[in-house]
Amino acid sequence: MQVIEDPKLLRSEIKKLKQQGELISFIPTMGNLHQGHLTLVKEGQLHAKITIVSIFVNPMQFNNAQDLANYPKTLAEDCAQLKEAGVDIVFTPTPEVIYPNGLNAQTFVEVPGISDSLEGELRPGHFRGVSTIVTKLFNLVQPDFACFGKKDFQQLAVIKQMVLDLAMPIKIIPVETVRENSGLAMSSRNSKLSEAEKLIAPKIAEVMNNIGQNLPTNSENCEQLIKDAQQTLNNSGFKTDEIHIVDPLTFAPLHKASKQAVILMAAFLGNTRLIDNLVVNLHQ
Ligand code: PAF
Repeated sequence: MQVIEDPKLLRSEIKKLKQQGELISFIPTMGNLHQGHLTLVKEGQLHAKITIVSIFVNPMQFNNAQDLANYPKTLAEDCAQLKEAGVDIVFTPTPEVIYPNGLNAQTFVEVPGISDSLEGELRPGHFRGVSTIVTKLFNLVQPDFACFGKKDFQQLAVIKQMVLDLAMPIKIIPVETVRENSGLAMSSRNSKLSEAEKLIAPKIAEVMNNIGQNLPTNSENCEQLIKDAQQTLNNSGFKTDEIHIVDPLTFAPLHKASKQAVILMAAFLGNTRLIDNLVVNLHQ
């Protein structure tokens, strides 16, 4: 496995691989890898012989300096796991090389609509940061396939739209969320939880599943369900940030024609913001 920091070296390696006719699967990450990331790697390996993983904590997608500073960085352990998993190249660029003119003197990629609602409304500029870095990484890595976890449900929708709108020749592969036995969705942020918080954390998935089971068919008014869920989470020690029940295709409120609902959860446990989501079929 090669660990490459320099984009120029990456480009020359990619050029060689392309000349040999190899297909490339790409898994962009921000490091602090866990089983969820390794599942993305496994999925990538099903589609192409060459797997490339990037590790880059993208400052542009953080709208809170503290959150960025606190983001766990475990490069040596990450590389050991990726080597073991049979990854071919790990790309580990620095912020200076990715954003040589700083974050604000830089072309942005913005997916309108989806980027501005829900998570995007709460974290202004977040999805612009994600679409810009993913475009840049796609241009450097030139993959045929790219794997993204369904845990970041809105992010996945933004990326799919971006690839469609900009006619990028890349197949986006959505991958199921990997969970602990407790039901807690795996996340790099889980490593920030204290022992006591770890015991409470699975409650977010429990409350979400409970909403899913009680979602009325033809559901248009979910306000009470959301209020009850917030109350339960807050009573358990969370500070609920947002709960939305929307149409997964449009991210708009459910309407009579909605075939599915997605329940989007975000709640703080101490300083750690946990997210999760569940897609539910609505029987009309
Ligand atoms: O999901 C993530 O880890 C990040 O948002 C991504 C896609 C690597 C872009 O920085």
